Amino acid sequence: MSEAVSSGSMIVVSNRLPFVLKRNEATGRLERKASAGGLVTAVAPVVIQGNGLWVGWPGIHLDDPNEPIPESDPNDQTPTAGLLSKKVVAVHVERGMFDSYYNGCCNGTFWPLFHSMPDRAVFSAEHWKNYYKVNQLFAEKTMSALMSLILEQKDSVATPLVWIHDYHLMLAANWVRQAAEEKDMRCKMGFFLHIPFPPWDIFRLFPWADEILQGMLGNDMVGFHIEDYCLNFVDCCQRRLGCRVDRKGMLVEHGGRTVRVRPLPIGIPFDRFVQLAESAPRVMLTTNQKVVLGVDRLDYTKGLVHRLKAFECLLEKYPEHLEKVTLLQISVPSRTDVKEYQDLKEEMDQLVGRINGRFTTYNWSPIRYIYGCVSQDELAAFYRDAAVAFVTPLRDGMNLVAKEFVACQINEPPGVLVVSPFAGAGEMMHEALICNPYEIHQAADVLHRALTMPEDERTLRMNYLRRREKVHDVNYWMKSFLKAMGSLIEEDGDEVLP
Ligand code: F6P
Repeated sequence: MSEAVSSGSMIVVSNRLPFVLKRNEATGRLERKASAGGLVTAVAPVVIQGNGLWVGWPGIHLDDPNEPIPESDPNDQTPTAGLLSKKVVAVHVERGMFDSYYNGCCNGTFWPLFHSMPDRAVFSAEHWKNYYKVNQLFAEKTMSALMSLILEQKDSVATPLVWIHDYHLMLAANWVRQAAEEKDMRCKMGFFLHIPFPPWDIFRLFPWADEILQGMLGNDMVGFHIEDYCLNFVDCCQRRLGCRVDRKGMLVEHGGRTVRVRPLPIGIPFDRFVQLAESAPRVMLTTNQKVVLGVDRLDYTKGLVHRLKAFECLLEKYPEHLEKVTLLQISVPSRTDVKEYQDLKEEMDQLVGRINGRFTTYNWSPIRYIYGCVSQDELAAFYRDAAVAFVTPLRDGMNLVAKEFVACQINEPPGVLVVSPFAGAGEMMHEALICNPYEIHQAADVLHRALTMPEDERTLRMNYLRRREKVHDVNYWMKSFLKAMGSLIEEDGDEVLP
């Protein structure tokens, strides 16, 4: 499907490159370690086919920033294998500045604030200054990338596309736009936010809110997962900057330009997950146990503490599940330098210990807790064989776990998806059971309902869920973005996107 998507050459700008660099201890050489995410799967082929470039942080602090980026390993089968090193622009940031920008401003301020948890947000002028500087650095690198692209493709009629990603880089667009205008260079600029955009009452707490809005409005199109986030953004532009807005058409006027705002819900590489589920070996616990599955980065937005308490409540309220149901919680370590994440790790360790201590019998423990990464094969097998996916974030931009679970549900009869209404996924996966994670008792009731749901109802719900995710996969998202930018060159007939 990705062969059918094309545009003018694209420069993708993201905090992380689509792979990280690691130093091989034995040889001393740098090596690429591929990323398996859906974003990379969809976007990398478009960058490679269009002879574009990818600008980002390489995941390592090098003593010599001119040390060349290695080519991919000849056996590399991942989507970035064809991304030549000359097409990769590494942004090197001095260690202290990076720490202040990434751990401080991005993950200590924007992450909690945009997830509507302002009490957890730290507002620091120092972090903001470094965020500003790092954004400038990314913009400079993007500008050089654009110049080299235009020089290389001087006969091309297509306008190059700059696609900036996420809350790390909300300021970069204007510097790129201004420099391009000064040099009389054509380019279209798009931005996509992978996390929620908060309501005005929350957003206004950020002391430098104007600059964030102005930065995002430096793009021609700003995309969010769902309409609610679009409306929040439009609202903030009107109330904070006094922009003229058109809510129906999702347009914001600013600085003599009109910026498009669009809901572009991200999907997953559906067929890849189906294939993984078809080939993955069985890895589940004992055969007569039902598994309730949780898979998340260890992040306070994911509602992990609430989830464990809801499971504990299930065992109290519905003792028929004792020794028959296990919660398998996979928590992937994340942002381990940030204190909030360290505290959560401790809290989870204690809670798992307490609940297991309370209910464990000689042949059963209620919670299996994995703090670490699992392979894609294992993950697909867990998704396939779980009776219930318990996806209960307190707030989440989209949540791809809900979608990956659905893709892997190839067993007959299938399992049940339980999802929080506070995730983007909860807004659109209507056939799932909706569960408010803040109401522990009600969440236990919903989980009980999922565990006891009749087979025909499970099949009906899952069929609808799978059908939607198959069509609205990550390539569909990629196409929708290009279409919203007016940059899609259709190569596969007259398909019309709604
Ligand atoms: O969901 C937002 C996001 O920044 C993703 O883009 C990223 O994959 C994930 O969170 C993990 O973030 P980090 O790059 O900080 O590990």
